[in-house]
Order: sequence, then C-alpha cells, then structure tokens
Amino acid sequence: MDSVDNLTKSNLNSIFHFTHNFKKGIMPSSCCSGKVLCNAFFEPSTRTSMSFETAMLQMGGSVINFDVNTSGIKKGETFEDTLKTLQEFSDMIVLRHPEKQKIFDAIKISKIPIINGGNGDGEHPTQALLDLYTIQEYINTNKTIHICFVGDIKYSRTIHSLLKILALTEQFYEITFCCYPDCVPDLSYVNEIKRISTIKEIHVIENIDINIEKYDVFYCTRYQSERHKDCKSDFDIAPWQINQNRVNKMKQTAIILHPLPRNNEILTEVDNDRHAKYFEQVKNGVYVRMAVIYTLLFKELDNIFCTEEYNCRNQLLSEIHYW
Ligand code: NCD
Repeated sequence: MDSVDNLTKSNLNSIFHFTHNFKKGIMPSSCCSGKVLCNAFFEPSTRTSMSFETAMLQMGGSVINFDVNTSGIKKGETFEDTLKTLQEFSDMIVLRHPEKQKIFDAIKISKIPIINGGNGDGEHPTQALLDLYTIQEYINTNKTIHICFVGDIKYSRTIHSLLKILALTEQFYEITFCCYPDCVPDLSYVNEIKRISTIKEIHVIENIDINIEKYDVFYCTRYQSERHKDCKSDFDIAPWQINQNRVNKMKQTAIILHPLPRNNEILTEVDNDRHAKYFEQVKNGVYVRMAVIYTLLFKELDNIFCTEEYNCRNQLLSEIHYW
C-alpha cells in the first residue's frame, strides 16, 4: 500500500472510532459550543439534513438552515455569492445540490469546510460512511462479503460512494447489480470500480430470486426519477421488490439496507423483520455525522488531508476531504 492508501484507512478508522464512542454515549456534550453548522440544501432532504442538525445539536453546537425558496437566489443572486455569504455565518457548510459540479465550485471559493451532502448523481460520502459502518456492525467475517445492489445503480449517488469506500477497507467483496430497466451502469464505470477496489467480481443480473440465499447484504434504492432524462418510473417493480416471501429465503445473517426515502422497493411488512436494518442506518447516520463534524472542526485530520498529493491522486479522497 502506498502512503495515501494508509492515510485513507487511518482516516476511516478514526471516523469509525469516534462513531463507535458516540454511539456508546461517550462524548463531550458541549464540545461544539459556539460553532455553527449551515445546512444548504438545494434539493429535498429529510435524513441527511436532519441528522446533521441532530448531530450538531447533540454536541452543543448551533445550526442554521438555508432555504433556497426564500433566499436572495430568488432575486437573481448567484450560487457563488450565496456561498460566500453563508460562510460568513458558519464554521462549516453541508451542501446538497442537483448539479454535480457545484460542490467543487463551492470548495474553490470556501474558506471553511464544505461537506458534500449529495451532488447530483455523483456522490454522497457521509451516506457511504454510515452504510459501511452499518455493514461492519452486522457482517463480521473475514470471508468475501457478497453485496447485491438492487435498483437504480446508474444514478444512485449513495451506491457510487459506497462502492468507492469499500475500497478503503481490507475486506474482499463480490458485487451483484440487480438493476431496474435503464438503470444499468456503463461498462466503463464497472471497470473503473473494479480497478480501484478490492471487489473480486461484479455481476449484472436481472432476476433477484436467483441466488437470493447467497447474499450478505441487499442494498436497495429507489428509481431516481429526477435524474433520468427519459423518466420511465411506471415499470412493474415486482421482480425487484423486497417482500416477506423473498426475505424468508435470505441467508440467516443477511441484512437489508436502503438509504431511504423508499417508494415501494421494500414492503412495510418487512420493517420489523430482523434482517431489516434501514432504520438502524438512519440512527447510525447521526453518530457518523457527529464524528465527521467533530473531526473537521477539531482538525484531527489536517495532516492527512492537506497534501497536494492527496488532492491530485485520488478522486474519492479529494471528495471525502470535503465532506
Ligand atoms: C438518498 C439521496 O439523497 O441520495 N437519500 C439520502 O440521502 N439518505 C437516496 C435517494 O434520494 O434516493
């Protein structure tokens, strides 16, 4: 492993170390007193915005929420001027924007840390952290972990980030994509993921029932209708839907994840099943984000992240730099 890879792993370990302690209730409750987090969401959000807010409040900090609909943007103010303004009020900004590029524009002009809360169909790094944390909580093996991604693999930014973050662990993975119509990722994307990761194999299948008993993790996503140019959301979801009948065929230890919101990918009859961990993911989201805020505010990782080499050599890491 080269040095950047080592730093990456230590970064993950450090974040998960804090997350674990926060989840156990070990935390300095007012460590963020006097600090302000700004939520700047240019796309709808329930969990990401509110879990960042909860995380900051739990640590004694304050939160301001930018509302695009009542903002100067409605009077023609630019994105850049908006960002320059928000950073005068806060110590860090969580930015979600439908345009993939905006996070990078924001980073260029910002004096304070910017956390990527989702950039178009690009990435969602803190979601990937909480997804990986939840997987590691429940799947404890040194054998290859089989993950079946179900749904919109092409446009789900949570899947894109999770696939990349898997590469930062020492585990081996076998990946299956069970895609909705028009949601199959490009071959070049699949090859790139294979190149940067510890993923042994990637399969693309159409029928979720084939080998349903072999997967350790089912990671479901909704059809990203807002990202499809030619949106065809009216397809029959039955072949991909997680219902009790399918859950009964899963491996004893398998877990079902979903970044949420769901439409009808997982029936509510499954919610109380022991395999269902999507609301545990929501809970972990608060602890992971506390760890991210804590880390960024207290500069624990400055020596890791502020190197030229780091920024140039690995796109994933440069994105995580700006959580
Ligand atoms: C996801 C997102 O916004 O990318 N949700 C989330 O942040 N927890 C998933 C989605 O919108 O489908």
